[in-house]
Amino acid sequence: MSDKKILLGQTLGFKADPFEESFDNATDYNSDGGLYIVDGLIADLGDRSDLLSRYPDVPNFDYKDYLLTAGLIDTHAHYPQTRIIASWGARLIEWLNTYTFPEEEKFGDREYANQTAGFYLDTLLQNGVTSTSSFCTIHPESVDAIFESAEQRGMRIIAGKTCMDRNAPPGLLDTPRSAYDDSRELIARWHEKGRLSYAISPRFAPTSTAEQLEALGSLWKEYPNCLMQTHLSEQLEEISWVGELFPDSKDYLEVYEQFSLLGERGLYGHGIHLSDSELDRIREVDGRLIHCPTSNMFIGSGLFRLCERKTAGFNTGLATDTGGGSSFSMFRVMAAAYEVSQLCGYSLHPSQLYWLATVGNAKSLHLENTIGNFQIGMEADIIALDLYSTEVISQRAKCSDNIWDTLFPTIMMGNEKAIKDVWVYGEKVKTYNSS
Ligand code: GUN
Ligand code: ZN
Repeated sequence: MSDKKILLGQTLGFKADPFEESFDNATDYNSDGGLYIVDGLIADLGDRSDLLSRYPDVPNFDYKDYLLTAGLIDTHAHYPQTRIIASWGARLIEWLNTYTFPEEEKFGDREYANQTAGFYLDTLLQNGVTSTSSFCTIHPESVDAIFESAEQRGMRIIAGKTCMDRNAPPGLLDTPRSAYDDSRELIARWHEKGRLSYAISPRFAPTSTAEQLEALGSLWKEYPNCLMQTHLSEQLEEISWVGELFPDSKDYLEVYEQFSLLGERGLYGHGIHLSDSELDRIREVDGRLIHCPTSNMFIGSGLFRLCERKTAGFNTGLATDTGGGSSFSMFRVMAAAYEVSQLCGYSLHPSQLYWLATVGNAKSLHLENTIGNFQIGMEADIIALDLYSTEVISQRAKCSDNIWDTLFPTIMMGNEKAIKDVWVYGEKVKTYNSS
C-alpha cells in the first residue's frame, strides 16, 4: 500500500533562476498552498483547498503560517572536521596542519567515525539541511561511516574518500595505487546505492603527487557519472605553493586539467583568485564553482565575486565548508554570501539567496530533477520554517507586507530554532523543535 500525506502551509519553490528572471517570475510562492506526497515523492502541489478536495481521505499536516520549502543543500563540507569547527587563529595551511590533520587521523577508528558521522548528519537535519556533499578522510572506514549513517536517516548525500599522498602526516597518506583502489572499491559499494552517491575526492593539488592525480583522473574516466570534488585557488599562499610543486603548469587549474580532473561534474571549492583564463576554461566545460563565504572569511581567504560569476553564466554552488566554515547553518552561509556580495557592490535578493541554497545547489550537484525544489516527481525533502522564531526576528518580520521581507530576517538572523520540522523522503524526522 502506498504511503500518502498532504503537507499544508505557505509554500515556496522556483520556476526559474532569479539571477536570470525577475524575482516574481522566478518564484512560485503560495500563501495558502500544499504538497501531496506519495511514497517519498511529491505527487501533486497547489492550493490548499484544491489538494484537500482532490485527495479527501489522505491525512494532512497543517503547518498554517509556517513556510514550507525544499530542504537546504550543502555542496561542500568536511564532516570529519565537525569537532574542530571554530578553531582559532590560523590561515589555511597552518590551519590544516594544526587542527585539521590531527583530527582527521582519528578516522581510521570506525567507532569514532560512526559517532562523528551520526552527530554531523543530525546537526545538519537540526539546521534544515537535508543533503550534503562531504569529503571524508583517507580512511575507507570514514566513508562507510557517513554513508551508513545517511542510509539510516534516509538522506540523499554525496561523499568520497579524501585522497592525499604527500604534505600531510604519515598517518594520513595513501599512495596513487591505494587511492585508486580504495576509491574504486568504495564506488562499487556505495555509488548510486539508494539515495547515496560517490564523489572522487583528491583533497587539492598540494597534497597529491602528479601520479595520484593521474590515477584519480583515470578513475573518473571509468566512472564519468561520479562527481569529482576538490579545492581550487582558495588562498594566495596556497596558489604560490602549487606553482612551486607543479612548476610546469601555467596555473593552478592546469594541474587538474592535465590529469583530466576538469569537467562538468567537477565541484571546485572556493575558486576565489582565478585568472580570466582559468575562469574561461572552467566555464567552457561548465565546471561548478562552490562559494564558501563563512569559510572564506573565517580562514581569511578572500571575497568570491558571486554576482560576476552568475552573470557570466557559471553554475555556482553555496556551501558551509565545515569546519573551515564556522557554522553548519545554511542560513548563516546565505547571510555571509549576502554580506560578501555587499562588499563586492551587489545586494543579493532573498529569492536569489534561497534559490542558491536549494535549486542552485541541486544544479551544482546535477540533481536539479531530484531535490531542491517543489515539482511533481521530485523527492520530498521538505522543511517547515518558523519565520518568527525569535523575538528579534519576529518584531522585524511583523513589519513586512511581502514574503521576501518576511523571510529575509530569518535568512540573516535565523538558526535551528527557525526549523520547525524536517521531512526526509516524505518522512518526518525528529529535530530540535519538532514535537
Ligand atoms: N584545502 C585543502 N583542504 C582543505 C580543507 O579541509 N578545508 C579548506 N577550507 N580548504 C582546504
Ligand atoms: Zn573544503
